[in-house]
Amino acid sequence: KMKIAHIIGARPNFIKVAPIMEAMRRHNSEAGSKDDVMMAVLVHTGQHYDYEMSKLFFDVLELESPDYNLGVGSGPHGWQTGEMLKRTEEVLVKEEPDIVIVYGDTNSTLAGTLAAVKLHIPVAHVEAGLRSFNNIMPEEINRMITDRLSTYLFCPSPTAVENLAREGITEGVHNVGDVMYDALLHSIRVAEAKSNILDRLGLKPRSYLLATVHRAENTDEPDNLGSILKALGQTGRTVILPLHPRTRRRLEEFGLIDLLKGSSDVMVIDPVSYLDMLLLEKNADKILTDSGGMQKEAYWLGVPCITLRTETEWPETVEAGWNVLVGAEEDRILEAVKGPFTTKYSQKSDLYGDGDASGRIIDIISHRGKDMR
Ligand code: UD1
Ligand code: UDP
Repeated sequence: KMKIAHIIGARPNFIKVAPIMEAMRRHNSEAGSKDDVMMAVLVHTGQHYDYEMSKLFFDVLELESPDYNLGVGSGPHGWQTGEMLKRTEEVLVKEEPDIVIVYGDTNSTLAGTLAAVKLHIPVAHVEAGLRSFNNIMPEEINRMITDRLSTYLFCPSPTAVENLAREGITEGVHNVGDVMYDALLHSIRVAEAKSNILDRLGLKPRSYLLATVHRAENTDEPDNLGSILKALGQTGRTVILPLHPRTRRRLEEFGLIDLLKGSSDVMVIDPVSYLDMLLLEKNADKILTDSGGMQKEAYWLGVPCITLRTETEWPETVEAGWNVLVGAEEDRILEAVKGPFTTKYSQKSDLYGDGDASGRIIDIISHRGKDMR
């Protein structure tokens, strides 16, 4: 029997673990013998804890409750990562898993990696090899360290494989595609059947812009946050803005809410479930975001994306003409909203795999499978 501990803690981690859990279930249902069965231990660090940031995702993704919730909560990076490291180590000592899987680039990812490698437990990194080449981002630090220490590096794209090679990391690297595509393909069908978010908000397809902002460089700099909000307030369109708790706090702290009251009709709402989000994305005219995950979802759903950053870990979406990087400047944001989107606007192709990244990951971990090369 192989025991796999999954370390998760933040919203995008929950979305990424779901297809992996599903692939494990599939693996078990096809297992030839008892020795071939995989057991999951789900460890939630407690990095995200509001209902809309955590439990809601377990519900709509039909994830089983975590075996452990370490209840770490919010705080400065060193404190938060340190608490997670301490508490994750205790769980790993007790559970003695054969392998630890970490997801993406959050502080939970870094803590899980550090706890495991010091106990000589091999780490598998799902979403390895991404780089923004901007070390100011906490996520960039988390990714670099995690990749350096991982035994299995599961990359979503050939670019990610190249990024790792440039850092001298070539062993254990597998291009498997993006697990978020697996998640989307599954959940969009569920969303179409179950979500009534458009009706609830009184929205018609393509009649609105969808925006999210939560990246530290945009929320913690009053100038950047102010200029983004001003732009959102001046589009002359309906704008749906599901607000991350971090952004809501800053908005109140900096007293910026009035900036949204321009020519736009801005609806500020709580963070929405993954199912609601997929439908909001699919039916939006354009998406404005600084989210990593949403840049790809926009691409997969065929909706133009305006990225409120100056660099991206997903350059393929820009090269394909589905994404533009405008940063936080008001004028550039409004130009992208109002102008013709882009001249390149090409046919879509599968930039990030074929929707079975999680199957490949589980096959490789169980020494049965191969990557896409
Ligand atoms: C984290 C990740 C980021 C990811 C994002 C997804 C790190 C370094 N960053 O950023 O990569 O894109 O999650 O959403 O791990 N808060 C609440 N309730 C919650 C969670 C957070 O009120 O349930 C507030 C707290 O004021 C907290 C702040 O949001 O201090 C930031 O939360 P934190 O988890 O530290 O980072 P995120 O900005 O969410
Ligand atoms: N998301 C969601 N509800 C929201 C905002 C985002 O379900 O209100 C989903 C989004 O569709 C994507 C994931 O959360 O799948 C991205 O997470 P986030 O933007 O928080 O983090 P990032 O991808 O930037 O790390």
